[in-house]
Amino acid sequence: MDVDRLRLDTAGTEHCIHLNNAGAALMPRPVVEAVVDHVQLEARIGGYEAADHRAEAIEGTYRSVESLLGAQEGTVALVENATAAFSQALSAIPFREDDLILTTRHDYVSNRLMYLSLRDRFGVRIDTVPDGKEGGVDVRRMIDAIHRRRPRLVAVTHVPTGSGLVQDVAPLAQECLRREVPFLLDACQSVGQMPVRVDEIPCTFLAATSRKFLRGPRGAGFLYVSESALEQGLSPLFPDLRGTDWIEEELSQPAPDASRFENWEFAWALILGLGAAVDYAVDLGLEAIRERVVLLAQRTRTAVGEVPGMRVLDRGNTLSGIVTVEAESIPARDLMTGLRERGINTSVVERGSALPDFDERGIEAALRISPHYYNLEEEVDAVAEGIRELVRLRRGGGPL
Ligand SMILES: Cc1ncc(COP(=O)(O)O)c(C=O)c1O
Repeated sequence: MDVDRLRLDTAGTEHCIHLNNAGAALMPRPVVEAVVDHVQLEARIGGYEAADHRAEAIEGTYRSVESLLGAQEGTVALVENATAAFSQALSAIPFREDDLILTTRHDYVSNRLMYLSLRDRFGVRIDTVPDGKEGGVDVRRMIDAIHRRRPRLVAVTHVPTGSGLVQDVAPLAQECLRREVPFLLDACQSVGQMPVRVDEIPCTFLAATSRKFLRGPRGAGFLYVSESALEQGLSPLFPDLRGTDWIEEELSQPAPDASRFENWEFAWALILGLGAAVDYAVDLGLEAIRERVVLLAQRTRTAVGEVPGMRVLDRGNTLSGIVTVEAESIPARDLMTGLRERGINTSVVERGSALPDFDERGIEAALRISPHYYNLEEEVDAVAEGIRELVRLRRGGGPL
């Protein structure tokens, strides 16, 4: 990977050390141009007219996302973010009282909030399958539960927001396929940093966002819907005219493809930016991206782990580009602020975003450091040095 060339494409690398790619990555030049060009076109000729003018390029975003995921044509819906994608998918499951949602300890917080809301409103039950010894859901127990408990839905977060874990989701998706149980995958943190393909992880739904490891703009996301889910007629609880026809006063008909999960109003500039981001990642190769991300993340864990008083929190057989650490003596938020003042971007995951994982391990908040392939080894070393300095300052009792 020609990192120098990739950095020339990434204006932000001149201004900061950006290790917050799990928050929102720095966009590369083609993404910025796609967004800005379209906004300018809208300003020149009108928003609706600009969308018509760029219809082919817009269609290209669908093809790009499909090819990223190894998905069939017509199986991708474009939406505002991963949460919108997830809730659209969830709303398509015709839950009844006592139906079971089977999940893991590593749900994204908003996903779990939606299950709780389903529980409170419809009496749906939630069951959390325990982790295996190494961290991450115990695949054997989950497969057993899919068989014995007959869940209405299995929903799993691939890479959680608050730890470096990569959950082993392919065998779970395969089991669900065998047993005809819908499988909803939150791939928000995995898409863009590793290959995520629905021909390998045969899920029913997959929700993801544009701005994280994919390096697209904020405010766009997508939902994959399997062909069989479309054929079975799964559609969102609250349809919109974009993907549903009103054919008679009392009768509506969902679109045959995944557009039935979309809304009519789109930020097309962002959709074009998403398309450019996906093409950029596919050109580089997701396997090559994963290799470098894992390398930089591992270097981060080693370097920060060597700082006295720092603890690396990541557990699991397979780890991602998300590194989580905590300091004995400094709250995570103070660390993040201190680093930002030194030109280094990281973020904080609070307990309330990572229950029950954080409670079990007695973590109040973690500093999240998430390198991407365009980061340099020196940048990763700089974050460890920055933390070392902050720890020293705190020990000396002075201001950070
Ligand atoms: C694992 C995971 N899922 C879902 C989301 C939600 O994504 P969005 O903010 O695009 O809705 C996030 C955001 O951090 C996340 O980390």
